[in-house]
Amino acid sequence: MEKQIKGLALYPGSFDPFTFGHLDIVERASRIFDSLVVTIAQNSSKTELFTPDERKKLIEDCTGHLPNVRTETFDGLLVDYAKASGACALVRGLRQVSDFDYEFRLAFANRRLAPDVETLFLMTNEHHALISASIVREIHRHGGDITSFVPEKVLRAMNRK
Ligand code: PNS
Repeated sequence: MEKQIKGLALYPGSFDPFTFGHLDIVERASRIFDSLVVTIAQNSSKTELFTPDERKKLIEDCTGHLPNVRTETFDGLLVDYAKASGACALVRGLRQVSDFDYEFRLAFANRRLAPDVETLFLMTNEHHALISASIVREIHRHGGDITSFVPEKVLRAMNRK
């Protein structure tokens, strides 16, 4: 299929763990852009479940069916990584209105730092609108069923932790 937007986009995030909501955004963005790099922030202040390299491997396993998608880790400022890799856009998923506040602040900060790099918001499928990585971690920690939230490979890796 001819892509609607030529060029490379980044889909940045923590992805700890990578959920069906993330996968949904990757699939949507991969249909729009020539190529998409899922970019895992290494310097997140959040407590880690998986190391960045473990997340990279899991995301590669879950996106292997998408030939124009690859996964990288990055350290430092996202916009510096975007400029260095020649990306024209940053893709972020929006699940619900409560995401707006944080996402707008992030997008405006990134625009101030790099006016040429656009942030594009994609709406998740409504089935995934209530998934967040932190809630998935919490449910799993208490022994709850997360099979409808994460791909099977991620579930198996979480069970091994
Ligand atoms: O999945 P998350 O945790 O909401 O993703 C946030 C992320 C990783 C995209 C953001 O924290 C980020 O870009 N971190 C790298 C440092 C940076 O460039 N921060 C933005 C300027 S405030």
